[in-house]
Amino acid sequence: MTEPKSNENVTVVDNTTGKQTTFPLLSGTAGAKVIDIRNLYKDLGYFTFDPGYTATGSCQSAITYIDGDEGILLYRGYPIEQLAEKSDFMEVCHLLLFGELPDKKQKDQFVWDITHHTMVHDQISNFFRGFRRDAHPMAVVCGVVGALSAFYHDSTDINDPWHRKVASYRLIAKMPTIAAMAYKYSVGQPFVYPSNTLDYAANFLRMCFAVPAEEYEVNPIVAKALDLIFILHADHEQNASASTVRLAGSTGANPFACIAAGCAALWGPSHGGANEEVLKMLNQIGDKNKVGDWVKKAKDPDDPFRLFGFGHRVYKNHDPRANVIRKAAHQVLNELGVNDPLLEVAIELEKIALEDEYFVKRRLYPNVDFYSGIMLKAMGFPTSMFTALFAVGRTVGWIAQWNELIEDPSQKINRPRQLYTGPTSRDYIPVDKR
Ligand code: CMC
Repeated sequence: MTEPKSNENVTVVDNTTGKQTTFPLLSGTAGAKVIDIRNLYKDLGYFTFDPGYTATGSCQSAITYIDGDEGILLYRGYPIEQLAEKSDFMEVCHLLLFGELPDKKQKDQFVWDITHHTMVHDQISNFFRGFRRDAHPMAVVCGVVGALSAFYHDSTDINDPWHRKVASYRLIAKMPTIAAMAYKYSVGQPFVYPSNTLDYAANFLRMCFAVPAEEYEVNPIVAKALDLIFILHADHEQNASASTVRLAGSTGANPFACIAAGCAALWGPSHGGANEEVLKMLNQIGDKNKVGDWVKKAKDPDDPFRLFGFGHRVYKNHDPRANVIRKAAHQVLNELGVNDPLLEVAIELEKIALEDEYFVKRRLYPNVDFYSGIMLKAMGFPTSMFTALFAVGRTVGWIAQWNELIEDPSQKINRPRQLYTGPTSRDYIPVDKR
Protein backbone atom coordinates (compact mmCIF):
# COMPACT_ATOMS: atom_id res chain seq x y z
CA MET A 1 0.00 0.00 0.00
CA THR A 2 1.51 3.34 -1.01
CA GLU A 3 0.71 6.59 0.71
CA PRO A 4 -1.17 9.27 -1.27
CA LYS A 5 1.10 12.04 -2.62
CA SER A 6 0.41 15.53 -1.41
CA ASN A 7 0.26 18.68 -3.56
CA GLU A 8 -1.18 20.82 -0.80
CA ASN A 9 0.11 21.98 2.55
CA VAL A 10 -1.16 23.49 5.74
CA THR A 11 1.03 26.04 7.45
CA VAL A 12 0.93 26.33 11.21
CA VAL A 13 2.30 29.37 13.00
CA ASP A 14 3.17 28.95 16.66
CA ASN A 15 2.11 32.25 18.25
CA THR A 16 4.12 31.53 21.39
CA THR A 17 7.48 31.17 19.63
CA GLY A 18 6.84 32.68 16.20
CA LYS A 19 8.03 29.39 14.62
CA GLN A 20 6.28 28.35 11.44
CA THR A 21 6.05 24.94 9.88
CA THR A 22 4.25 23.29 7.01
CA PHE A 23 2.45 19.97 7.02
CA PRO A 24 1.38 17.97 3.95
CA LEU A 25 -2.37 17.86 3.34
CA LEU A 26 -3.29 14.37 2.10
CA SER A 27 -6.33 13.50 0.01
CA GLY A 28 -7.83 10.03 -0.11
CA THR A 29 -10.24 8.91 -2.83
CA ALA A 30 -13.18 10.27 -0.79
CA GLY A 31 -13.82 12.00 2.52
CA ALA A 32 -12.16 14.80 4.46
CA LYS A 33 -8.54 15.60 3.74
CA VAL A 34 -6.09 14.80 6.54
CA ILE A 35 -3.19 16.84 7.83
CA ASP A 36 -0.08 14.69 8.07
CA ILE A 37 1.26 15.79 11.46
CA ARG A 38 3.88 13.09 11.86
CA ASN A 39 6.61 15.77 12.05
CA LEU A 40 4.72 17.98 14.51
CA TYR A 41 6.75 17.01 17.56
CA LYS A 42 10.03 17.17 15.63
CA ASP A 43 9.20 20.58 14.12
CA LEU A 44 7.36 22.34 16.96
CA GLY A 45 7.82 20.14 20.04
CA TYR A 46 4.07 19.58 20.51
CA PHE A 47 1.74 16.60 20.56
CA THR A 48 -1.90 16.80 19.52
CA PHE A 49 -4.75 16.29 22.00
CA ASP A 50 -7.82 14.42 20.77
CA PRO A 51 -9.37 12.17 23.43
CA GLY A 52 -11.80 9.76 21.81
CA TYR A 53 -10.05 10.35 18.44
CA THR A 54 -12.86 12.59 17.21
CA ALA A 55 -10.68 14.12 14.49
CA THR A 56 -7.76 11.74 14.21
CA GLY A 57 -7.05 9.43 11.29
CA SER A 58 -5.16 6.46 12.71
CA CYS A 59 -4.27 4.76 9.43
CA GLN A 60 -4.91 4.74 5.71
CA SER A 61 -7.41 2.13 4.63
CA ALA A 62 -9.06 1.02 1.38
CA ILE A 63 -11.73 -1.22 2.91
CA THR A 64 -14.76 0.72 4.12
CA TYR A 65 -15.89 4.30 3.64
CA ILE A 66 -18.47 6.19 5.70
CA ASP A 67 -19.86 9.65 4.99
CA GLY A 68 -21.59 10.40 8.28
CA ASP A 69 -23.27 13.60 7.08
CA GLU A 70 -24.81 11.96 4.04
CA GLY A 71 -25.49 8.59 5.71
CA ILE A 72 -23.34 6.66 3.22
CA LEU A 73 -21.61 3.34 3.92
CA LEU A 74 -19.51 1.65 1.23
CA TYR A 75 -17.67 -1.67 1.42
CA ARG A 76 -14.81 -1.46 -1.09
CA GLY A 77 -16.90 1.13 -2.95
CA TYR A 78 -20.19 -0.79 -3.01
CA PRO A 79 -23.16 0.88 -1.21
CA ILE A 80 -24.44 -1.16 1.73
CA GLU A 81 -28.00 -0.93 0.39
CA GLN A 82 -27.00 -2.72 -2.84
CA LEU A 83 -25.03 -5.40 -1.02
CA ALA A 84 -27.91 -5.93 1.43
CA GLU A 85 -30.38 -6.35 -1.39
CA LYS A 86 -28.38 -8.27 -3.98
CA SER A 87 -25.42 -9.98 -2.37
CA ASP A 88 -24.84 -12.56 0.35
CA PHE A 89 -22.53 -12.72 3.33
CA MET A 90 -19.92 -15.01 1.74
CA GLU A 91 -19.56 -12.66 -1.24
CA VAL A 92 -19.25 -9.73 1.16
CA CYS A 93 -16.54 -11.57 3.11
CA HIS A 94 -14.60 -12.14 -0.11
CA LEU A 95 -15.07 -8.49 -1.05
CA LEU A 96 -13.82 -7.18 2.28
CA LEU A 97 -10.90 -9.59 2.48
CA PHE A 98 -9.64 -9.45 -1.10
CA GLY A 99 -11.02 -6.16 -2.41
CA GLU A 100 -13.31 -7.55 -5.14
CA LEU A 101 -16.55 -9.46 -5.45
CA PRO A 102 -15.70 -13.04 -6.45
CA ASP A 103 -16.55 -14.53 -9.83
CA LYS A 104 -18.45 -17.85 -9.76
CA LYS A 105 -15.32 -20.01 -9.50
CA GLN A 106 -13.71 -17.83 -6.84
CA LYS A 107 -16.92 -17.80 -4.85
CA ASP A 108 -17.31 -21.59 -4.95
CA GLN A 109 -13.72 -22.00 -3.82
CA PHE A 110 -14.08 -19.41 -1.04
CA VAL A 111 -17.31 -20.94 0.26
CA TRP A 112 -15.69 -24.40 0.16
CA ASP A 113 -12.65 -23.14 2.08
CA ILE A 114 -14.70 -21.42 4.77
CA THR A 115 -17.11 -24.35 5.06
CA HIS A 116 -14.22 -26.76 5.57
CA HIS A 117 -12.74 -24.78 8.44
CA THR A 118 -15.89 -24.62 10.59
CA MET A 119 -15.04 -27.43 13.00
CA VAL A 120 -13.03 -26.59 16.09
CA HIS A 121 -10.28 -28.69 17.67
CA ASP A 122 -12.02 -31.30 19.78
CA GLN A 123 -10.10 -30.24 22.89
CA ILE A 124 -11.93 -26.88 22.68
CA SER A 125 -15.07 -28.65 23.92
CA ASN A 126 -13.19 -29.42 27.15
CA PHE A 127 -12.03 -25.84 27.35
CA PHE A 128 -15.69 -24.73 27.25
CA ARG A 129 -16.50 -26.93 30.19
CA GLY A 130 -14.29 -24.78 32.40
CA PHE A 131 -16.77 -21.92 32.17
CA ARG A 132 -19.74 -21.46 34.47
CA ARG A 133 -23.03 -22.30 32.76
CA ASP A 134 -24.40 -18.85 33.57
CA ALA A 135 -21.43 -17.02 31.99
CA HIS A 136 -22.37 -14.34 29.49
CA PRO A 137 -21.83 -15.71 25.94
CA MET A 138 -19.50 -12.79 25.16
CA ALA A 139 -17.32 -13.66 28.16
CA VAL A 140 -17.05 -17.16 26.73
CA VAL A 141 -16.47 -15.92 23.17
CA CYS A 142 -13.66 -13.56 24.30
CA GLY A 143 -11.98 -16.41 26.17
CA VAL A 144 -12.34 -19.11 23.52
CA VAL A 145 -11.27 -16.89 20.61
CA GLY A 146 -8.18 -15.86 22.59
CA ALA A 147 -7.49 -19.54 23.25
CA LEU A 148 -7.48 -20.40 19.53
CA SER A 149 -3.81 -19.39 19.36
CA ALA A 150 -3.13 -22.26 21.77
CA PHE A 151 -4.75 -24.69 19.31
CA TYR A 152 -3.64 -23.47 15.89
CA HIS A 153 0.13 -22.88 16.13
CA ASP A 154 0.46 -23.49 12.41
CA SER A 155 -1.25 -20.19 11.55
CA THR A 156 0.21 -17.68 14.00
CA ASP A 157 3.27 -16.47 12.02
CA ILE A 158 2.09 -13.02 11.00
CA ASN A 159 4.97 -12.63 8.52
CA ASP A 160 3.90 -15.66 6.50
CA PRO A 161 1.09 -14.82 4.02
CA TRP A 162 -0.07 -18.45 4.04
CA HIS A 163 -0.38 -18.45 7.84
CA ARG A 164 -2.30 -15.17 7.65
CA LYS A 165 -4.71 -16.56 5.08
CA VAL A 166 -5.34 -19.78 7.01
CA ALA A 167 -5.85 -17.84 10.27
CA SER A 168 -8.26 -15.47 8.48
CA TYR A 169 -10.32 -18.35 7.12
CA ARG A 170 -10.25 -20.17 10.45
CA LEU A 171 -11.52 -17.13 12.33
CA ILE A 172 -14.38 -16.41 9.89
CA ALA A 173 -15.33 -20.11 9.78
CA LYS A 174 -15.01 -20.96 13.48
CA MET A 175 -16.59 -17.87 14.96
CA PRO A 176 -20.18 -19.11 14.38
CA THR A 177 -19.21 -22.51 15.80
CA ILE A 178 -17.79 -20.88 18.93
CA ALA A 179 -20.75 -18.51 19.37
CA ALA A 180 -23.20 -21.41 18.92
CA MET A 181 -21.25 -23.54 21.40
CA ALA A 182 -21.39 -20.65 23.90
CA TYR A 183 -25.17 -20.64 23.48
CA LYS A 184 -25.54 -24.41 23.77
CA TYR A 185 -23.35 -24.46 26.85
CA SER A 186 -25.46 -21.74 28.50
CA VAL A 187 -28.70 -23.69 27.98
CA GLY A 188 -27.20 -27.03 28.96
CA GLN A 189 -27.65 -28.70 25.58
CA PRO A 190 -25.04 -30.76 23.73
CA PHE A 191 -22.85 -29.00 21.19
CA VAL A 192 -24.05 -29.45 17.59
CA TYR A 193 -21.29 -30.00 15.02
CA PRO A 194 -21.30 -27.85 11.89
CA SER A 195 -22.84 -29.28 8.73
CA ASN A 196 -21.00 -28.80 5.45
CA THR A 197 -24.23 -29.09 3.49
CA LEU A 198 -25.55 -25.78 4.82
CA ASP A 199 -24.59 -22.22 4.07
CA TYR A 200 -22.98 -19.96 6.68
CA ALA A 201 -26.15 -18.51 8.28
CA ALA A 202 -28.19 -21.73 8.06
CA ASN A 203 -25.35 -23.70 9.59
CA PHE A 204 -25.16 -21.24 12.47
CA LEU A 205 -28.90 -21.52 13.10
CA ARG A 206 -28.66 -25.30 13.13
CA MET A 207 -25.70 -25.28 15.53
CA CYS A 208 -27.73 -23.01 17.84
CA PHE A 209 -31.17 -24.55 17.66
CA ALA A 210 -30.89 -28.22 16.63
CA VAL A 211 -30.88 -30.97 19.27
CA PRO A 212 -29.74 -34.56 18.65
CA ALA A 213 -33.14 -35.96 19.63
CA GLU A 214 -35.04 -34.28 16.80
CA GLU A 215 -34.81 -33.46 13.13
CA TYR A 216 -34.15 -29.78 12.57
CA GLU A 217 -35.10 -27.86 9.49
CA VAL A 218 -33.66 -24.41 8.91
CA ASN A 219 -36.32 -21.80 8.26
CA PRO A 220 -35.17 -20.08 5.02
CA ILE A 221 -36.75 -16.76 6.08
CA VAL A 222 -34.72 -16.75 9.27
CA ALA A 223 -31.53 -17.83 7.47
CA LYS A 224 -31.90 -15.04 4.91
CA ALA A 225 -32.56 -12.47 7.64
CA LEU A 226 -29.49 -13.62 9.58
CA ASP A 227 -27.35 -13.44 6.44
CA LEU A 228 -28.55 -9.84 6.03
CA ILE A 229 -27.66 -9.03 9.65
CA PHE A 230 -24.15 -10.41 9.05
CA ILE A 231 -23.77 -8.27 5.89
CA LEU A 232 -24.85 -5.12 7.74
CA HIS A 233 -22.39 -5.75 10.57
CA ALA A 234 -19.45 -6.96 8.48
CA ASP A 235 -17.25 -3.85 8.74
CA HIS A 236 -17.45 -0.26 9.85
CA GLU A 237 -14.00 1.24 9.22
CA GLN A 238 -12.04 2.45 12.27
CA ASN A 239 -14.67 1.81 14.97
CA ALA A 240 -13.62 1.01 18.53
CA SER A 241 -13.26 -2.75 18.08
CA ALA A 242 -11.50 -2.55 14.68
CA SER A 243 -9.13 0.04 16.15
CA THR A 244 -8.51 -2.29 19.08
CA VAL A 245 -7.71 -5.11 16.67
CA ARG A 246 -5.30 -2.80 14.82
CA LEU A 247 -3.71 -1.59 18.06
CA ALA A 248 -3.12 -5.16 19.24
CA GLY A 249 -1.98 -6.16 15.74
CA SER A 250 0.53 -3.30 15.59
CA THR A 251 2.52 -5.00 18.36
CA GLY A 252 2.93 -8.14 16.25
CA ALA A 253 0.42 -10.13 18.34
CA ASN A 254 -1.01 -13.21 16.61
CA PRO A 255 -4.37 -12.89 14.78
CA PHE A 256 -6.37 -14.95 17.28
CA ALA A 257 -5.20 -12.74 20.14
CA CYS A 258 -6.01 -9.61 18.11
CA ILE A 259 -9.54 -10.74 17.28
CA ALA A 260 -10.11 -11.67 20.94
CA ALA A 261 -9.16 -8.06 21.77
CA GLY A 262 -11.72 -6.91 19.18
CA CYS A 263 -14.40 -9.10 20.81
CA ALA A 264 -13.65 -7.53 24.19
CA ALA A 265 -13.98 -4.00 22.81
CA LEU A 266 -17.18 -4.89 20.95
CA TRP A 267 -18.84 -6.12 24.13
CA GLY A 268 -19.14 -2.60 25.63
CA PRO A 269 -22.67 -1.08 25.68
CA SER A 270 -21.56 1.98 23.71
CA HIS A 271 -20.52 -0.32 20.86
CA GLY A 272 -21.76 -3.84 20.02
CA GLY A 273 -23.24 -4.38 23.46
CA ALA A 274 -25.88 -1.78 22.61
CA ASN A 275 -28.12 -4.32 20.80
CA GLU A 276 -28.58 -6.23 24.04
CA GLU A 277 -29.17 -2.99 25.97
CA VAL A 278 -31.84 -1.88 23.45
CA LEU A 279 -33.91 -4.97 24.15
CA LYS A 280 -33.46 -4.63 27.91
CA MET A 281 -34.53 -0.99 27.60
CA LEU A 282 -37.61 -1.78 25.48
CA ASN A 283 -38.59 -4.46 28.00
CA GLN A 284 -38.18 -1.99 30.84
CA ILE A 285 -40.31 0.59 29.05
CA GLY A 286 -42.81 -2.17 28.41
CA ASP A 287 -45.67 -0.01 27.20
CA LYS A 288 -45.80 2.59 24.44
CA ASN A 289 -47.54 5.03 26.80
CA LYS A 290 -44.46 5.09 28.99
CA VAL A 291 -42.07 6.09 26.19
CA GLY A 292 -42.36 9.81 26.99
CA ASP A 293 -41.07 9.27 30.55
CA TRP A 294 -38.02 7.40 29.28
CA VAL A 295 -37.25 10.04 26.67
CA LYS A 296 -37.38 12.61 29.49
CA LYS A 297 -34.98 10.49 31.51
CA ALA A 298 -32.57 10.25 28.56
CA LYS A 299 -32.55 14.04 28.23
CA ASP A 300 -31.89 14.70 31.91
CA PRO A 301 -28.27 15.89 32.22
CA ASP A 302 -28.16 14.57 35.81
CA ASP A 303 -29.20 11.08 34.76
CA PRO A 304 -26.54 8.89 33.08
CA PHE A 305 -29.26 6.96 31.20
CA ARG A 306 -29.05 7.14 27.41
CA LEU A 307 -31.45 5.79 24.85
CA PHE A 308 -29.67 2.70 23.59
CA GLY A 309 -29.76 2.34 19.83
CA PHE A 310 -29.65 6.11 19.33
CA GLY A 311 -26.74 8.25 18.23
CA HIS A 312 -23.49 7.52 16.48
CA ARG A 313 -20.05 9.06 16.52
CA VAL A 314 -19.95 9.30 12.73
CA TYR A 315 -23.54 9.21 11.41
CA LYS A 316 -25.16 12.60 11.90
CA ASN A 317 -27.99 12.26 9.38
CA HIS A 318 -29.05 8.63 9.44
CA ASP A 319 -27.42 5.23 9.84
CA PRO A 320 -27.92 3.55 6.45
CA ARG A 321 -27.76 0.14 8.15
CA ALA A 322 -30.69 1.14 10.37
CA ASN A 323 -32.81 2.00 7.31
CA VAL A 324 -32.20 -1.44 5.81
CA ILE A 325 -32.75 -3.30 9.07
CA ARG A 326 -35.91 -1.38 9.97
CA LYS A 327 -37.51 -2.53 6.73
CA ALA A 328 -36.23 -6.07 7.17
CA ALA A 329 -37.45 -6.28 10.79
CA HIS A 330 -41.03 -5.44 9.78
CA GLN A 331 -40.86 -7.92 6.90
CA VAL A 332 -39.36 -10.76 8.94
CA LEU A 333 -41.81 -10.33 11.82
CA ASN A 334 -44.63 -10.34 9.28
CA GLU A 335 -43.34 -13.41 7.46
CA LEU A 336 -42.80 -15.28 10.72
CA GLY A 337 -46.20 -14.21 11.99
CA VAL A 338 -44.62 -12.72 15.13
CA ASN A 339 -46.61 -10.01 16.81
CA ASP A 340 -44.11 -8.48 19.22
CA PRO A 341 -45.49 -5.69 21.41
CA LEU A 342 -41.91 -4.44 21.81
CA LEU A 343 -42.01 -3.41 18.16
CA GLU A 344 -44.82 -1.02 19.03
CA VAL A 345 -42.76 0.42 21.87
CA ALA A 346 -39.78 0.77 19.50
CA ILE A 347 -41.87 2.56 16.85
CA GLU A 348 -43.25 4.98 19.43
CA LEU A 349 -39.79 5.61 20.86
CA GLU A 350 -38.35 6.27 17.41
CA LYS A 351 -41.24 8.65 16.60
CA ILE A 352 -40.98 10.68 19.79
CA ALA A 353 -37.19 10.84 19.77
CA LEU A 354 -37.04 11.88 16.11
CA GLU A 355 -39.38 14.80 16.80
CA ASP A 356 -37.82 15.85 20.10
CA GLU A 357 -35.69 18.98 19.97
CA TYR A 358 -32.97 17.42 22.20
CA PHE A 359 -32.41 14.57 19.74
CA VAL A 360 -32.88 16.70 16.62
CA LYS A 361 -30.37 19.32 17.82
CA ARG A 362 -27.77 16.69 18.67
CA ARG A 363 -28.47 14.80 15.46
CA LEU A 364 -29.22 11.55 17.31
CA TYR A 365 -30.88 9.00 15.01
CA PRO A 366 -31.65 5.33 15.51
CA ASN A 367 -28.58 3.24 14.73
CA VAL A 368 -28.28 -0.35 13.48
CA ASP A 369 -28.69 -1.76 16.99
CA PHE A 370 -32.10 -0.20 17.45
CA TYR A 371 -33.90 -2.70 15.23
CA SER A 372 -31.50 -5.66 15.09
CA GLY A 373 -32.49 -6.83 18.58
CA ILE A 374 -36.18 -7.08 17.72
CA MET A 375 -35.31 -9.09 14.65
CA LEU A 376 -32.94 -11.41 16.53
CA LYS A 377 -35.55 -11.93 19.24
CA ALA A 378 -38.12 -12.92 16.61
CA MET A 379 -35.61 -15.43 15.25
CA GLY A 380 -35.44 -17.10 18.66
CA PHE A 381 -32.15 -15.76 20.01
CA PRO A 382 -32.00 -14.78 23.67
CA THR A 383 -30.91 -11.21 24.39
CA SER A 384 -27.58 -12.36 25.84
CA MET A 385 -26.57 -13.74 22.41
CA PHE A 386 -27.06 -10.50 20.47
CA THR A 387 -23.53 -9.14 20.83
CA ALA A 388 -22.05 -12.56 20.03
CA LEU A 389 -24.04 -12.46 16.77
CA PHE A 390 -22.61 -9.02 16.04
CA ALA A 391 -19.14 -10.49 16.64
CA VAL A 392 -19.80 -13.31 14.15
CA GLY A 393 -20.68 -10.77 11.44
CA ARG A 394 -17.87 -8.35 12.33
CA THR A 395 -15.05 -10.91 12.40
CA VAL A 396 -14.43 -10.57 8.65
CA GLY A 397 -14.09 -6.79 9.04
CA TRP A 398 -11.60 -7.15 11.88
CA ILE A 399 -9.63 -9.68 9.86
CA ALA A 400 -9.61 -7.48 6.75
CA GLN A 401 -8.41 -4.52 8.85
CA TRP A 402 -5.76 -6.68 10.52
CA ASN A 403 -4.44 -7.99 7.18
CA GLU A 404 -4.33 -4.49 5.76
CA LEU A 405 -2.36 -3.32 8.78
CA ILE A 406 0.19 -6.14 8.51
CA GLU A 407 0.66 -5.49 4.77
CA ASP A 408 1.07 -1.72 5.24
CA PRO A 409 4.80 -0.88 5.10
CA SER A 410 4.21 2.38 6.99
CA GLN A 411 2.69 0.60 9.98
CA LYS A 412 4.43 1.06 13.32
CA ILE A 413 3.50 0.02 16.82
CA ASN A 414 0.51 2.18 17.79
CA ARG A 415 1.63 4.26 20.70
CA PRO A 416 -0.37 7.44 21.46
CA ARG A 417 1.01 10.27 23.58
CA GLN A 418 -0.73 12.09 26.43
CA LEU A 419 -1.27 15.39 28.19
CA TYR A 420 0.20 14.66 31.60
CA THR A 421 -1.66 16.27 34.54
CA GLY A 422 -0.26 14.28 37.47
CA PRO A 423 2.30 15.36 40.08
CA THR A 424 5.71 16.45 38.87
CA SER A 425 8.82 14.72 40.17
CA ARG A 426 8.91 14.41 43.98
CA ASP A 427 11.03 12.54 46.47
CA TYR A 428 10.02 9.31 48.14
CA ILE A 429 8.97 9.69 51.79
CA PRO A 430 9.49 6.68 54.13
CA VAL A 431 6.25 5.28 55.52
CA ASP A 432 6.87 6.50 59.12
CA LYS A 433 7.24 10.09 57.85
CA ARG A 434 4.02 10.23 55.73
N1 CMC B 1 -29.36 9.19 24.36
C1 CMC B 1 -29.37 10.42 24.92
N2 CMC B 1 -28.43 11.36 24.69
C2 CMC B 1 -27.42 11.03 23.89
C3 CMC B 1 -27.33 9.76 23.26
C4 CMC B 1 -28.35 8.83 23.53
N3 CMC B 1 -28.32 7.62 22.97
N4 CMC B 1 -26.22 9.72 22.50
C5 CMC B 1 -25.62 10.90 22.63
N5 CMC B 1 -26.35 11.70 23.46
C6 CMC B 1 -26.06 13.10 23.80
C7 CMC B 1 -24.93 13.22 24.80
O1 CMC B 1 -25.39 13.21 26.12
C8 CMC B 1 -24.34 14.54 24.40
O2 CMC B 1 -25.18 15.57 24.90
P1 CMC B 1 -24.54 16.97 25.43
O3 CMC B 1 -23.91 17.60 24.23
O4 CMC B 1 -25.70 17.72 25.99
O5 CMC B 1 -23.53 16.57 26.47
C9 CMC B 1 -24.48 14.58 22.88
O6 CMC B 1 -25.60 13.73 22.61
C10 CMC B 1 -23.24 14.05 22.14
O7 CMC B 1 -22.93 12.77 22.65
P2 CMC B 1 -21.45 12.16 22.72
O8 CMC B 1 -21.40 11.19 23.86
O9 CMC B 1 -20.45 13.26 22.71
O10 CMC B 1 -21.39 11.41 21.34
P3 CMC B 1 -20.33 10.31 20.95
O11 CMC B 1 -20.09 10.46 19.51
O12 CMC B 1 -19.14 10.35 21.84
O13 CMC B 1 -21.08 8.92 21.27
C11 CMC B 1 -22.39 6.97 21.03
C12 CMC B 1 -21.64 8.11 20.30
C13 CMC B 1 -22.86 5.95 20.01
C14 CMC B 1 -21.42 6.26 22.01
C15 CMC B 1 -23.59 7.58 21.82
O14 CMC B 1 -24.48 8.21 20.93
C16 CMC B 1 -24.33 6.52 22.66
O15 CMC B 1 -23.90 6.26 23.80
N6 CMC B 1 -25.41 5.90 22.11
C17 CMC B 1 -26.10 4.83 22.81
C18 CMC B 1 -25.32 3.52 22.64
C19 CMC B 1 -25.49 2.93 21.25
O16 CMC B 1 -26.59 2.83 20.73
N7 CMC B 1 -24.34 2.46 20.68
C20 CMC B 1 -24.34 1.78 19.38
C21 CMC B 1 -23.64 2.55 18.33
S1 CMC B 1 -23.96 1.91 16.67
C22 CMC B 1 -23.34 0.28 16.68
C23 CMC B 1 -21.87 0.24 16.72
O17 CMC B 1 -21.23 0.74 15.80
O18 CMC B 1 -21.33 -0.33 17.68
